[in-house]
Amino acid sequence: MFEPVKIAPSILSADFMHLARDIERIDKGGAGFIHVDVMDGHFVNNLTMGVPVIKQLKGVTDVPLDVHLMIENPQKQLPWYLDAGADIVTVHAEVADEDQLVEIIDQIHAAGAKAGVSVKPSTSLEVLEPVIDKVDMVLVMSVEPGFSGQSYIEGSDDRVASVVAMAKAHNASPLIEVDGGMNTQTVGKVCAQGADVIVCGNAVCGAPDPACALKEIERIANEAQPALDA
Ligand code: DX5
Ligand code: ZN
Repeated sequence: MFEPVKIAPSILSADFMHLARDIERIDKGGAGFIHVDVMDGHFVNNLTMGVPVIKQLKGVTDVPLDVHLMIENPQKQLPWYLDAGADIVTVHAEVADEDQLVEIIDQIHAAGAKAGVSVKPSTSLEVLEPVIDKVDMVLVMSVEPGFSGQSYIEGSDDRVASVVAMAKAHNASPLIEVDGGMNTQTVGKVCAQGADVIVCGNAVCGAPDPACALKEIERIANEAQPALDA
């Protein structure tokens, strides 16, 4: 927590016919991660991309891949994503009980990757309590997962503050990522509460100049961050 904020552009908003070009643009903008939204048509209605895309991304960028699994039964498919080269793998707390979540986190760590756990906007943050000191990242959804281009759900910044407080109480310091509706208007609210990784779909990959849009959001995010010694 409270490291400089990193921006994680979501390639869900990229032009899939020119994906390598779009990756180059966000690399140039200084992306901290490349956020890959994997949707299975079950956990969420939408169906997006999976293992073959991740493998090919590894060949065109050195930016770490932040893979957001919006899938049921992640344990079944986890090895594929780890083999494909995911650097951070985030699963949803809603698809696993406490024991399964711990197993999943261990499985990700055993493969040498970082583990994240995500909560939908209506999920009680209590589900994070047993794993907050085991994960490398907590992903707070600020829209209902499923689609890019949705509006930020007000109050998500309060959930970030609660996660920060929970982490402190457990002497843990996972990265805190916020995903959904992030742009120049909304990023300051969540960074002021301690968010340190910001996913941007439309606001970066959908912008006319993605590198410039990324830099502007990053600037606002860092200005809003609490002091490093807070
Ligand atoms: C939504 C995805 C997000 C989405 C973000 O389910 O997890 O990563 O692509 O897109 P924007 O930033 O446009 O809300
Ligand atoms: Zn996402």
